[in-house]
Amino acid sequence: MRRKLIAANWKMNGSRTANAAWLASFDGSRAPCDVVVCAPFVYLPQVLAGLRAAEAGAQNLSAEAPGAHTGEVAGEMLLDLGVRWVIVGHSERRMLYGESSQVVAAKAARALALGLRPIVCVGETLAEREAGRTLEVIGAQLEAVLARCAPAQLLAGALAYEPVWAIGTGRTASPVQAQEVHAAIRAQVAHADAAAASQLRLLYGGSMKPANAAELLAQPDVDGGLIGGASLQAAEFAAICGAAG
Ligand code: PGA
Repeated sequence: MRRKLIAANWKMNGSRTANAAWLASFDGSRAPCDVVVCAPFVYLPQVLAGLRAAEAGAQNLSAEAPGAHTGEVAGEMLLDLGVRWVIVGHSERRMLYGESSQVVAAKAARALALGLRPIVCVGETLAEREAGRTLEVIGAQLEAVLARCAPAQLLAGALAYEPVWAIGTGRTASPVQAQEVHAAIRAQVAHADAAAASQLRLLYGGSMKPANAAELLAQPDVDGGLIGGASLQAAEFAAICGAAG
């Protein structure tokens, strides 16, 4: 039985005042699932101090060891703060910041080597879906990760399927579409390690909100969610966590 995991991705949002209100309002002990809150680097100390019954996560890390990489943040630094989770390979990193599948895989491997729990994201664009290439694209993204990270290692974290066309658009994958891709991802991981694949948590992300969460989370291979826009309001995020019972 895979315990559900709901992760907030605040993206580049927040302020000390807004975060304080969020943290005062959200209590993870009411959630029937594991909860992770991924905040911008600079707010991680505030989130770590204020979170109740939930864990903090970063949204990125460097693939490199500490040293001459101006503007980057090393996994060692996240651990030093007490952060245990990190999103890796979000589509905004891939598309806006040029992270290739090889870079994403290197970051995932680095996170795992350090003892961080990566939430590794994969997903197709609308053009790729419309061209019937969804499973091919996701298969290639996943293959790069599996070339560097054993499935049993990935169990420390999770994989997230985030169709690019559903992120922040209000357009959600249907439960059937999500389940189809999640099942394909699990089958691909099972090819390398069937036992690990059956335990690996696969999150769905892309306009998940209180109104559609229960239906998506009821799919047999959907083990949680990665929530962007709807995580910015604590009450909405709590409602999604509540749907993961
Ligand atoms: P969204 O974002 O929930 O706003 O679609 C999800 C994500 O990008 O992680």
